[in-house]
Amino acid sequence: MKKVYIETYGCQMNEYDTELIRSILKANNYEFTDSQQNADVVFLNTCAIRENAHSKIYGRLGEIKHLKERNRNVVVGLLGCMSQNLRGNLKRQEELVDIFAGPDSYKRLPAMIESVLTKGGKKYDFALSEFEDYGDVYPQRVPGVNAWIAVMRGCDNFCTFCVVPYTRGRERSRSPENVVAEVQRLAEERFKQVTLLGQNVNSYRADGYDFADLMMMVSEVDGIERIRFTSPHPKDFPDKFLEVMADNPKICNHIHLPLQAGNNRILEQMARTYTKQSFLQLVDKIRDKIPNVALTTDVIVGFSSETDADFEDTFEVMETVEFDLAFIFKYSERENTIADRKFSDDVPPHKKTERIVRLNELQKRISLRKNQAVIGQSFEVLVEGPSKKNPNEWMGRTDGNKIVIFERGPFKAGDIIETEIVDATANTLFGKHDLSAHTSARHALPILHETN
Ligand code: 5AD
Ligand code: SF4
Repeated sequence: MKKVYIETYGCQMNEYDTELIRSILKANNYEFTDSQQNADVVFLNTCAIRENAHSKIYGRLGEIKHLKERNRNVVVGLLGCMSQNLRGNLKRQEELVDIFAGPDSYKRLPAMIESVLTKGGKKYDFALSEFEDYGDVYPQRVPGVNAWIAVMRGCDNFCTFCVVPYTRGRERSRSPENVVAEVQRLAEERFKQVTLLGQNVNSYRADGYDFADLMMMVSEVDGIERIRFTSPHPKDFPDKFLEVMADNPKICNHIHLPLQAGNNRILEQMARTYTKQSFLQLVDKIRDKIPNVALTTDVIVGFSSETDADFEDTFEVMETVEFDLAFIFKYSERENTIADRKFSDDVPPHKKTERIVRLNELQKRISLRKNQAVIGQSFEVLVEGPSKKNPNEWMGRTDGNKIVIFERGPFKAGDIIETEIVDATANTLFGKHDLSAHTSARHALPILHETN
């Protein structure tokens, strides 16, 4: 059996795609190894969202060069968004790579590997499909508490800064029956949480069902305790969806609501289809319908022509909304996007740095204040496992997706425990578990189940 080593970069969709790739290769008699030295095939599943995603891969290819010098027969594959985006045009490192494949080409990987192994040469596959949803592939997941499940792929929004419509192609949704059948199987395998994924997940539409309908259907699967989703676009939040979220205890009270910018001219230039005012109204509506909802966001600073005054609008929205967490990025021009063709990347690097520093400082203050405000309160925490820093401490998440660290106790991954918050930083809550509440919680039964 040939051994495959695979590394994943980028978003959760890429993590999920790696699970699809593992499944496809396993069905074709490949096995997996954690050691690249022992591998017959080395795959990098890549991202293209910002230039630093590309730089990381160029760096890794530099290291893989040594691997290939030691073992000429190793097959190297560049998969995913960067591969699709560059279409094999890797400057000087092209000769290192034997297989180039984009996100819709994974079913053809076994044949591509076979061809390189038997005939040599290179294989390229950048065909994007309007239909490929991998609904017939059951991903080979790493056992755990959460399972990713893509319910739609691709994106038709064409935000001017974004490379995704070019790397992942047109929007397409899986049928609800197909999604629900997979979630049922996940429940049988004792996953406790599913995260529904899509580049534009709330635009989901299949067989006459919308995203609210899908969420309701998924929530009826016994054994699944929590449902999350990412990433939605602010344009698709009908009242019906918010009402389903509010009424359904399994759907976590967390919305990742990408703001990108707070200035109307910049928002228009980004083709985001909302204004500062309508975004703020949406936040009010969400908070009105779903009390205690956690809101997180993505922001880009230094988009083409953004002035200091334009940036102040973004600052103001962040100050007004008080997100629980924000991911803030410097604008990185992506080749062939609308912004690349129509606008210029004209905000000087030091201005981008100044703005990202200001927003990060603001957000840190807000996150810290919000986290400290819940000290003394109790939360149900879904236990994920030992914390990375200290094996005597465990970690889990609240419904609002906040990380909680607590002392190791008589529970295991997948349990839901009641935790009182005793301390907090901007990124982490520290909890004390209340074992008397352990079995009386709403999720008493699953706590008694084995997870693995
Ligand atoms: N430059 C910087 N950030 C970007 N994002 C998407 N495209 C770019 C780009 N060209 C950010 C957006 C998006 C997140 C996943 O990455 O904020 O929501
Ligand atoms: Fe990166 Fe976007 Fe592709 Fe995910 S979809 S891997 S974030 S470019």
